[in-house]
Formats: sequence, structure tokens, C-alpha cells
Amino acid sequence: LQGDLLGAIAAADTPEALEAARVGALGKQGSVTALLKTLGGMAPEERQVQGPRIQGLREAVSNAIGERKAAMDRALLDQRLASETIDMSLPIAGLQSGSVHPVSQVMDELAEIFADLGFAVATGPEIEDDWHNFTALNIPETHPARAMHDTFYFDRVDGENRKMLLRTHTSPVQIRTMVTTPPPIRIIAPGRTYRSDSDATHTPMFHQVEGLVIDRGITLGHLKWTLETFVKAYFERDDIVLRLRPSYFPFTEPSMEVDVGYTLVKGKRTIGGAEPDGWMEILGSGMVHPKVIAACGLDPHEWQGFAFGCGIDRLAMLKYGMDDLRAFFDGDLRWLRHYGFAA
Ligand code: PHE
Repeated sequence: LQGDLLGAIAAADTPEALEAARVGALGKQGSVTALLKTLGGMAPEERQVQGPRIQGLREAVSNAIGERKAAMDRALLDQRLASETIDMSLPIAGLQSGSVHPVSQVMDELAEIFADLGFAVATGPEIEDDWHNFTALNIPETHPARAMHDTFYFDRVDGENRKMLLRTHTSPVQIRTMVTTPPPIRIIAPGRTYRSDSDATHTPMFHQVEGLVIDRGITLGHLKWTLETFVKAYFERDDIVLRLRPSYFPFTEPSMEVDVGYTLVKGKRTIGGAEPDGWMEILGSGMVHPKVIAACGLDPHEWQGFAFGCGIDRLAMLKYGMDDLRAFFDGDLRWLRHYGFAA
């Protein structure tokens, strides 16, 4: 009987055939089960002899079924592995995760620094009209500054017959904020800006952050303190000297460009140091021009303020030692890795 049963198990070539062999031997009506039942009617001496034999048979049959089952499962998996091109059940090797781009990283840092100073983040459209981008900022149609901005214009005009363009700076967000939000105002406005310009330090698309404070009794002192606090927090050192240089912007009066002092460390320009070896320009700023405040429907006798505008890409280059602005927008992982921005 043992030979017959083991033969049937070995011959089973489907899970169904194997199950039939199991039921035939070990099931309620199975041949092995029937033998086990005979033990009860045996004389004790006979049972002592037959008991271990029948138990041994039961064990041999059940082991054989287990082994056959495992072999079948293996064969089935081998067959699937050979025929399926993608095995969704296997874990992925070498998964790469994304990372934060330096520009986004700096934007996040700026939002955090200015949040601590009570500034909210404001946004505006990248497709602007010439009123928000120029006219309301005291840059009339004939103003030479319009030519200086290398503006990308659209062919169409908007409903109010205003020329549409890609904003050349984030300053139109000043206007949009003053028109919609009653003072006091404390905002920064980071975002994309566009000028038709391209070399190692200029790309047609770049990033700026605008700052705007409008309140009663705002002075140049507030501007200077805010910029100093921001620059020290951003470059993470206290020994930073700023130089405010008189300049000209149509929308601020007085206007100044702000330079940050650098010291030479092993021949490398490093931001900071109480006694600077030289200066690097980082932003434009000034007291908001009364005409701009009035253009937004506010009384310039009651409300004053300051504004500044700063290149974010340039801030990133200075902090992380990058030297070619164009590489920011190439999406080359090797470049990002080199500066520690991708795994
Ligand atoms: N909008 C100016 C620029 O793009 C920068 C600026 C902003 C200057 C706000 C003064 C005040 O050059």
C-alpha cells in the first residue's frame, strides 16, 4: 500500500491531483484512515506490532504530500518569473527620491526669517499688465526705465487696454497688496520674474523677493534694521556689515542699493567680517514714493513705508558658492549633487 500511495503522490502533476491523492489516503474515507480504524479491534499484542507500522505509513504519506506541494509551488514561481517581465511582488532596488531645489530652499529660508519679523507671504501673477508692472510704480509710458527692463511683451492687451507682459520684477506685488489690503502692511513676495537677458549671471527667467512695509511713521531706520536683521539671519553670522549706497528707482525716494561686506578667506570671497575687504551688491531698496502710495488709493500723508527687491538666485549663489546662474535651470542632477542638493 505504501508504494502505491507514494507513487500516486509523485505522479500528481496538478494541485488538484495532489489534493485527490491526499483525500484518498488521509481523508475520512481514506485508505490510511481505514487502517488506523482497524487498530481498535486488534488484540493488544497485535496492536503493538501494527500500531507503529500504520503510524509510520501515515507519517510517510503526509511528508511526501508536503514535499510534493512545496516542489509544485517552487515550479509555479519559477514559471511565473520566467514568463512575467515585471514581478510587482519584488521590492524596488535603488529607489531615488527627489530633493528641494536651491531656489526653493532659499525661498523657504526667506519666508521663515521674515515670518519671525511679522511679515506675511504675498503673491501676484507672472503675467502682468503694464499698469501694475510700470505705471503705478511711477514708471510712465515714456520713462527710460521701461527700456532698461528688457520686457517680454504679449501681442494682446487686457480688458482695460493695458499691455500684457511677463513681470520684470516682483514690485507689482507691492501695488496689488496696497490696492487690496488696508495698512498696516508687512509682506514679502517671492517669485519668478522675466527679462530678455542671458549670460553667466543673467537668465531670461529668474527669481526675486520683494519686501514691503506700510504703516504710520515708518523711517529709513526701520528699513536699515530690517535689512541688517535679515542678512545676518540669512548668512547665519552676526559680523556682517551693510553699505547703503544712494541710487535711483522711480518707485522709491530716497533709493539705495545695499552692498554686503565680504572678507577674503584663503583668497575666497566670504560674506561677513567686521572689516570688509570689499563689497557685493545684494539688493535695491528705498522709501516707497508718495506717488506710488497715492496711485494705490492711500493718503501718503498718513501712510509711509519702505520696500526692497532682491535676487533670490543671487542670494543662493552667494550662500552656497555657486558661480553659474544658468546651471540653476538645467536640471542636471550632477550639479545639484555637487552642491549637496540631491542624494
Ligand atoms: N524692483 C527693483 C528691481 O528689480 C528692486 C527694488 C524693489 C528697488 C523695491 C527698490 C524697492 O531692480
